[in-house]
Amino acid sequence: MSEETNDQLPDRNLALELVRVTEAAAMSAAPLVGSGEKEAADQAAVDGMRYMLHSVAMDGVVVIGEGEKDEAPMLYNGEQIGDGTPPEVDIAVDPLEGTTLAAHGMPSALSVIALSTRGTMFDPGPCVYMEKMAGAPEVADLLDLDRPLGDTMRLVAQRKGCPVSDVMVVVLDRPRHEEGIAAIREAGARVRLIAHGDVSAALLAVTERSPVDLLWGIGGTPEGVISAAAVKCIGGQLLGRLWPRDESERTAAVEAGYDLDRVLDRDDLVAGEDVFFSATGVTDGDVLQGVRYPSAGGATTESLVMRTRSGTIRRVRATHDRAKLHAVAGGRFYTADRSST
Ligand code: FBP
Repeated sequence: MSEETNDQLPDRNLALELVRVTEAAAMSAAPLVGSGEKEAADQAAVDGMRYMLHSVAMDGVVVIGEGEKDEAPMLYNGEQIGDGTPPEVDIAVDPLEGTTLAAHGMPSALSVIALSTRGTMFDPGPCVYMEKMAGAPEVADLLDLDRPLGDTMRLVAQRKGCPVSDVMVVVLDRPRHEEGIAAIREAGARVRLIAHGDVSAALLAVTERSPVDLLWGIGGTPEGVISAAAVKCIGGQLLGRLWPRDESERTAAVEAGYDLDRVLDRDDLVAGEDVFFSATGVTDGDVLQGVRYPSAGGATTESLVMRTRSGTIRRVRATHDRAKLHAVAGGRFYTADRSST
């Protein structure tokens, strides 16, 4: 076959392999939904994700993982994943985004993974939090972390041709957001407070015709990078600025060479042009249905699977035979019977 013909052949879409990875993590965590045990639910998700990641042929390095090696023996930052064959990729994982949501049986817990060409994902180093704003393509150019929030509410309303009172902003319910929430409300816009889970909130904010127009607030930096990967696939914009919690974090970040005034956009957070993203719902939410058990032997999952280069966005609903999955996983995962996890 000539090279010319080869070039025209569709290449591999890793996202279609990654969906099995997030499905595995979600199904592993699902038995612990509502258990009150957030660490156990997270560990189950990590185990499920790692187990299935072995099936993906790639040369990956975890850039956004579960933390440093000592605290996180699996999926730690810097860990090599895959069999070492091309493509060379950076990996961002959050096996259970919204550990408390899952443990309390609350909506919008997800399992998520993003991949991008090696060296193209932002490494947040010592910075745990970032201020974020995200919105759909229609309002992408209006996002600004320096402009007063009330002014941005008015601009968004003007662009959408609606009263300010129609504008809805999703914000993590935290004391650090009191002033911002007051500014949004004073402008006449509405606030949807969430307990956790700003990746799911970012997905909702960038989706056209969703009930939410913007995401705003200070949340996890890893979640910011993962959200940026999703935004690159869906469209829209996400801005982020590192937000040190105290003087020692500020000093550590400056000494490590981070510019704390810089506003990073989605392309600074994930610079690659071939980005793969998969998320599977753990609990039901606005964006994805969670893992359900419609019959004793079966489980269903819903996932969002995306790739920038091809522009594909797939919603994958899967039915799983729990007895078979259990066998495949050597008896460790995917069972509602917690005694056998
Ligand atoms: P976990 O999954 O690690 O529990 O994080 C959930 C989350 O709500 C994120 O979605 C968010 O970015 C971050 O925590 C906010 O951090 P904090 O709870 O410390 O305000």
